[in-house]
Amino acid sequence: MTVLNRPMSGKPADPTDTVAVRVVGVQKIFDTKRGRHEALKSIDLEITDGEFLTILGPSGCGKTTLLRILAGFETPTKGDLLLDGKSLTNVPPNKRPMAMVFQSYALFPHMTVAENIAYGLKIAKISKAEIKERTDVVLSIMDLVGLGDRLPTQLSGGQQQRVALARAVVVRPRVLLFDEPLSNLDARLRDQMRSELRRIQRQLGVTSVYVTHDQSEAMAMSDRIVVMSEGHIEQVGTPSEIYRQPTSLFVADFIGKANVLTTSVASQSNGTLTLNILDTQIQLPDPGLSSSEITTVLRPEDVNVSRHPSPNDHVPRNESGILEVAGWLRGVEYLGSSTHLTIELLDGTLLAAVEQHTALRGPQDLPEEGAGVVVSMPIAAFRAVSAEERLLV
Ligand SMILES: Nc1ncnc2c1ncn2[C@@H]1O[C@H](COP(=O)(O)OP(=O)(O)OP(=O)(O)O)[C@@H](O)[C@H]1O
Ligand SMILES: [Mg+2]
Repeated sequence: MTVLNRPMSGKPADPTDTVAVRVVGVQKIFDTKRGRHEALKSIDLEITDGEFLTILGPSGCGKTTLLRILAGFETPTKGDLLLDGKSLTNVPPNKRPMAMVFQSYALFPHMTVAENIAYGLKIAKISKAEIKERTDVVLSIMDLVGLGDRLPTQLSGGQQQRVALARAVVVRPRVLLFDEPLSNLDARLRDQMRSELRRIQRQLGVTSVYVTHDQSEAMAMSDRIVVMSEGHIEQVGTPSEIYRQPTSLFVADFIGKANVLTTSVASQSNGTLTLNILDTQIQLPDPGLSSSEITTVLRPEDVNVSRHPSPNDHVPRNESGILEVAGWLRGVEYLGSSTHLTIELLDGTLLAAVEQHTALRGPQDLPEEGAGVVVSMPIAAFRAVSAEERLLV
């Protein structure tokens, strides 16, 4: 991958910025002994200049394949990639102004930290003086000052990962690509490194594409998240859009915890959906799905639980934008900052709820396991989503 003399800018990502990378109808078919496998099914995606974009999805959904196609290590079966408006189709990986950071670090074991970092610059025939200067700057940004003479084996996992990142950014790539770079680190270090990595990315303002199957990593780090499933994109959005406004059951379920409430459509008109739910009816904005594929989801934090002496006598209510139904508290799991509750409604539906605690409001204020309860759920918190796997053409 080549070295660009592009000045480093501290510009934060801005959604009105221009498109850096455009992925147009990219399909990838692998020919295997057991036949053809379509790893990517016509992907369209725009990556904005300076943004931190995360590709998130379960194992085998095609994340690495998409990243390798961006880097040029794989050729798409169909489709095209444009970088700043120019096609990358005939540009080999070593001529693409991109740098990749791997899970395995891939450091050269016989080279010192400084030599590892300088390697790409040496290949690009940069002068010795400039190599020294740029290596020193990056060592300092990565908090690696004083470690330049060590071999990779003399470093901790977190330090090795910072060297791998230093080696990628020192060439001032137009786009940084990451493939699960933190998954070899223990949980605490991973949390520390993810904020570190985000800080460095912001400081450099470099367009970044980050692959992970860890949803909390994606939520914490990204400007936008691309949720993938089985070779296609399910949804693209900011972390809060993906969490608050999932468009499918797959996304709602993959990001955080979701209660799924079976419903039937009573009517669908003028952008409003009337649903039969828990012996009553609610109205939601119509996401434009066909009635056979609609279900509703509700986050556990939107389920409020209080005691009720005789749930069997309670009549489901939908008043002032709150749906109220009765049930029994079946599970109580105290986790310190919160308690997770499981409620069985009178019709047998199981609901998950979460109660946050403070010094003034603790688990002692909650109903005990087995108690009769009434749950109140704001209608505005319900989302109508697609319950079906998308039909793929
Ligand atoms: N070179 C290859 N030949 C044949 N099939 C491949 C090849 N590379 C990937 N695949 C298949 O393509 C699909 C997508 O693989 P990919 O590595 O992109 O998944 P991933 O989303 O990165 O998964 P993980 O989270 O496990 O890394 C998988 O079913 C995989 O087995
Ligand atoms: Mg992968």
